Amino acid sequence: MASEPSLAGQTVVITAGPTREAIDPVRFLSNRSSGRMGFALARAFDNAGARVLLVAGPVTLPTPDGVTRIDVESARQMEAAVNNVIDGADIFVGCAAVSDYRPAATSSEKIKKTADELTLKLVRGPDILAGVAARENRPFTVGFAAETENLIENARAKMNNKSLDMIAANLVGVGRGFEQDDNELTVLWEGGEEPLGKATKMVLAEQLVILVGERFSAHAQRERA
Ligand code: C5P
Repeated sequence: MASEPSLAGQTVVITAGPTREAIDPVRFLSNRSSGRMGFALARAFDNAGARVLLVAGPVTLPTPDGVTRIDVESARQMEAAVNNVIDGADIFVGCAAVSDYRPAATSSEKIKKTADELTLKLVRGPDILAGVAARENRPFTVGFAAETENLIENARAKMNNKSLDMIAANLVGVGRGFEQDDNELTVLWEGGEEPLGKATKMVLAEQLVILVGERFSAHAQRERA
């Protein structure tokens, strides 16, 4: 890998963790994301000299030193928080496991167990990453692809469909990816691919920040030309 580019003076917005979609005042839909990869990235970008804004779903992790954290619960709150800070950001990394669906209605009272069957109607929520990538004057936009099969093929398709500059692909499943300290990432961009192998999320975050810095600089140079 080339020498580490500095990200001093750059603003990075990162989403991390799961979202919670309320069913009633005591129940919600969510997922197994621990937020560890996104928090490791926040620390690594801060170490590289960037100003880091971390939009976090409900997680039990300490805020890395120097990082500004904005706590949210639902996908719509996460989208609003991102939209509040994205203007002027240089890099966006969507690392959160955002709920794709939410209950069509949230009951204001706890749902009682009266009926034998209960049907929950779900509606699609916002795709925060695709929304950022579709903005005019968008930042350098990086996504994650958690896949259970055909990792590289699916990740590259996701990168193209969402118009991303870069995507970090990881296989998920039992004992893989979510809720683990280790992960295994392959990073893809247009015309390039770099497998980072299996390592702790902190080591992977540091390697990913180097790759983002390289591609971001190349991208900025092309924009200037
Ligand atoms: O399409 P898929 O959910 O697999 O894409 C994963 C990527 O998109 C991740 O970077 C995730 O943070 C982002 N995402 C998002 N909003 C959604 C769904 C996914 O920002 N509603």
